[in-house]
Amino acid sequence: MSLKETQKQLVQSEKMASIGVLAAGVAHEINNPLNFIQGGVTGIENYFKEHPDDHKSNIELFINAIKEGVSRAAEIVSGLNHYSRTGDIISNSVNIHTIIDNCLLLLQNRTKDKIEIIKEYTDKTYTLVGNEGNLHQAILNILSNAVQSIHDKGTISINTVIEREQIRISFSDTGCGINEVNLNKILDPFFTTKESGKGTGLGLFITFNILQEHEGKIKFESKLSEGTTVIIELPVRL
Ligand SMILES: Nc1ncnc2c1ncn2[C@@H]1O[C@H](COP(=O)(O)OP(=O)(O)OP(=O)(O)O)[C@@H](O)[C@H]1O
Ligand SMILES: [Mg+2]
Repeated sequence: MSLKETQKQLVQSEKMASIGVLAAGVAHEINNPLNFIQGGVTGIENYFKEHPDDHKSNIELFINAIKEGVSRAAEIVSGLNHYSRTGDIISNSVNIHTIIDNCLLLLQNRTKDKIEIIKEYTDKTYTLVGNEGNLHQAILNILSNAVQSIHDKGTISINTVIEREQIRISFSDTGCGINEVNLNKILDPFFTTKESGKGTGLGLFITFNILQEHEGKIKFESKLSEGTTVIIELPVRL
C-alpha cells in the first residue's frame, strides 16, 4: 500500500473514532423515544385484540406503517450502536463463501431476471476468524450497492483469491459507476447519492468499520457509466 493510501486510511480511522463517540450518544438518545413508540403501538394492538370491532381493520394499516417506521429507525440505531461497543466481538471460524451466498440469497428477488451473478471462488483451504453476523452485514452492504447501481441489466462478478495469508474478495458490477469527486467521500457517514428515503449513506461506513475490526481493508476502483469494483482483504491462516 502506498504512503498516501496508508495516510488516507489513518485519517479515516481517526474520523471514525470521533464519530463513533457521537454515534453512541445519538443512538442512546433515539433508542429511548423509539421504545415509547413501540410500547404505544403494542398497547394499541393489544387493545384491538381484546376489543375487536370494525375500527381494527381501519387502523391496522396505520399501526403497520408505524411499526415499519420504528423497526427501520431501530435498524439505524443498531447500526450506529455498532461503534459504541468495545471489544465485545464474538469471533469464530467463518466460511466467507457461505456468507456471500447467503447475502446473494437475500438479494435474489432484486437480482433475478435483471442481474447475472458470476462467481469464482478459490478452492484453497484457509481459516478466517471473525464475526459472522458483522461480516454478513459488511458484504450485504457492498452487494446491495452493486445491485442498486445497475439500472437495467448487468452483471456482478464475485471473485475470491488467497494470496500471502490474505483472502482478497472482489465485487465487480457493471453499474452506473462513481465519479472521482464522490469516490473520496463514499466511506463518509451519511454520504449518499440516493434520493431521500432510499439510502442513509451509512452502508459503506459500517462496512469500513467492520473490516477494520477484522484488520481488513477495502478499496474501490470505479469508472463512471462503466462500473465499480470493490475489493476487500482479510487476514487468514493457511
Ligand atoms: N457499487 C456502487 N456503484 C455505484 N455507486 C456506489 C456503489 N457503491 C457505493 N456507491 C456510492 O456510494 C454512496 C454511499 O454508499 P453507502 O452504501 O455508504 O450508502 P447508500 O447506499 O447511499 O445508503 P444505504 O447503504 O444506507 O442504503 C452511494 O450513495 C453511491 O453513490
Ligand atoms: Mg449502500
